[in-house]
Amino acid sequence: MSNIKHENYRNAYHYSPRENWMNDPNGMVYFKGEYHLFYQHHPMGTTWGPMHWGHAVSKDLVSWEELPIALAPDEHGAIFSGSAVVDWNNSSGFFDQEPGLVAIFTHHDDSTGANQIVQCQSLAYSKDNGRTWTKYEGNPVLRHDTYVDFRDPKVFWHERSSQWVMIVACGQTICLYRSSNLKEWAFASEFGEGLGFHDGVWECPDLFPLAAEDSEARWVMLVSIGDDPAYVEGSRTQYFIGDFDGMTFMPDERSRGEIRWLDYGRDNYAGVSWSDIPAADGRRLFIGWMSNWKYANLTPTDGWRGAMTLVRELKLETLEGEVTVTQQPIREMEAYRTGVLSLHDIAVDEAAVRLADVRQESCEILVRFDAAFSLGFKVRVGSGQETVVGWDAKTNEVYVDRTRSGLADFHKDFSGKHMASLRVTGALLELRIFVDRSSVELFADRGQAVITDLIYPDPASTGITVFADDDRKVIKSLHIYDLSSRG
Ligand code: FRU
Repeated sequence: MSNIKHENYRNAYHYSPRENWMNDPNGMVYFKGEYHLFYQHHPMGTTWGPMHWGHAVSKDLVSWEELPIALAPDEHGAIFSGSAVVDWNNSSGFFDQEPGLVAIFTHHDDSTGANQIVQCQSLAYSKDNGRTWTKYEGNPVLRHDTYVDFRDPKVFWHERSSQWVMIVACGQTICLYRSSNLKEWAFASEFGEGLGFHDGVWECPDLFPLAAEDSEARWVMLVSIGDDPAYVEGSRTQYFIGDFDGMTFMPDERSRGEIRWLDYGRDNYAGVSWSDIPAADGRRLFIGWMSNWKYANLTPTDGWRGAMTLVRELKLETLEGEVTVTQQPIREMEAYRTGVLSLHDIAVDEAAVRLADVRQESCEILVRFDAAFSLGFKVRVGSGQETVVGWDAKTNEVYVDRTRSGLADFHKDFSGKHMASLRVTGALLELRIFVDRSSVELFADRGQAVITDLIYPDPASTGITVFADDDRKVIKSLHIYDLSSRG
């Protein structure tokens, strides 16, 4: 790892490539004991450029091993975002005895000029657990005559109708196609006109069923929306809940009427879920790109640029009668904890005293307290810097304030405070705050609200403080875990 330069901001437990640029997660699939993560990668530079698929594998979704580049540009263009599936029954005909992996991605061709961009969908397959890939000689497998923006195919096997389904972004809508062999695709339906948020191109869709604890499973559609200069929020991800019959996605009433964001921070974009998680596991696992097109090319790292969010488990919960997508950090993170502090039934002022000597760059703060009072933490504190994360009982909001978090002058909209309102569901409110060298992720009340934000503090800014509207109030429990051991 000696070739790694300027490591100040390289996270301890979030994936980044060893060198150069990364954006969207791609082709996530579980196969033969390995979780695969491919990603948009420019291996020659630290800003966005000709896209390749970088590749990493993991046994536990936390420690990643970077592998050689999986897909490089070819005569059809650069390799944009897409997905991968296990072709268990050799429906594609690419395989012999053993099932293998098929990647479905966008070929992006701008060789005839910026006004004549062509985007189409193509295939590659691997017979050696993703180590080497062969592009299908019949590429592309799906074109479109009208849409310039026609990209980011996510493919899944739809059990009930026994067919492959592709969901793909078409400018400002989502198109669905179906196939029996991954090579020939028939149009099924189009979704999204007049629904959701439309200021910005639609990108990186996903569609999957989520079991609900208290009602029947629903289908969830994720749609990322590109940066629009008119909005300080930049690029972000919305979701819809509804039903899917193999042809058409039918949003429920709430999804028809309002916009629902997956994350209330600025830095969780283009996220999609893993394919082929074994039924015995049954989780819907999600990862996002921890950046924002508004400033992604400007962030102050050197030699590398771009990190992924923590892997998260998505669930459905009914909160005051409304079905909501929740996100929780995967349980595998718990194996990386080293206990630093563990306090129970302690007044806020006493907890502050116990925190005075704690120094943490990469850690988890897990706190439970009575939601009737406001409580917050300042993390990555030092030399005038602090990132404030907490709960405001007056407004019923959780927040991450990165106004004084460190370097921010690379973009005028970077600095700021990001809020999410919360319906407190129990007597105690739980906040889980994951801090790393250049990120903060807040999971509030079992993940019903999430805020993911990049920060660029000094490496020496490692203090943690706690505060409340009344510092004699009692915190039920507070744990701090060091998470730097993976690094
Ligand atoms: C989303 C995105 C995708 C595209 C890729 C290009 O961040 O714009 O739509 O496939 O990035 O790198």
